[in-house]
Amino acid sequence: MDNIGSWLWLDLEETQSTNDAVDRWCQECGQPCVVTAKRQTAGRGRRGRSWISQEGNLFMSFAFPAPVENIGEMAVLSGLAVLKTVRCFCPNANLKVKWPNDVLADGGKISGILFERATNGFWIMGIGINVRSNPLKSVAGYRTMSLNALGAKAERIEVLHQFVMQWDELMLLYQHTGFEVLRRQWLDNAYNLGKTIVVRQGTAEICGIFAGLDDDGALLLDTDGKIKKILAGDVMLNNN
Ligand code: BTN
Repeated sequence: MDNIGSWLWLDLEETQSTNDAVDRWCQECGQPCVVTAKRQTAGRGRRGRSWISQEGNLFMSFAFPAPVENIGEMAVLSGLAVLKTVRCFCPNANLKVKWPNDVLADGGKISGILFERATNGFWIMGIGINVRSNPLKSVAGYRTMSLNALGAKAERIEVLHQFVMQWDELMLLYQHTGFEVLRRQWLDNAYNLGKTIVVRQGTAEICGIFAGLDDDGALLLDTDGKIKKILAGDVMLNNN
């Protein structure tokens, strides 16, 4: 066990899913903590998908206390923190956040984030960042990207350190100034803002113009002049 920033940190050789490992650990230690692993044998993604976990990539799960209703804001904060992390290693890449919190680099998905509720009521934030390699396509059929493919020779632990710094900085900003600054920063880097997008919710699809983010992080979709508030779903990538 170690410390990283304000977090307790455990780096495992192998585990099924770092989200499960951190769930077990935060019940024991009762403090904000993070688990990383070199290998994940059953990494999982959003909407029941699996997360292809190639060795050399970063798999990290954070557990921390936060009110249930703040999930939309935490999703925005986490996507921004990943975007800023990737930007440090690849300053020339075209980086975008895709609602709720995917990060795209030169049009391919480089990171995914899965929020879950821990057994002790903490939030678990599980993040995968493609560092050394990327699958040909994601499980959802998206194009993918990695830091290495963008020309950055980073190692997973360096990326972890950078992420923790970015997260801690944004969290301080959020605590001192509120959500609005983050919302604006997120929108400045948003994929397809003002354009027609398709949001998938289970088997249903809703089409509309991406009008912005609400003050709780929900997506605002303009469907024939009527603004719909979307709390959960996937914005489809239109280049896969
Ligand atoms: C998605 O885009 O669908 C979310 C992917 C989340 C993957 C990460 S990898 C670390 C953590 N452990 C898991 O099993 N999933 C998350």
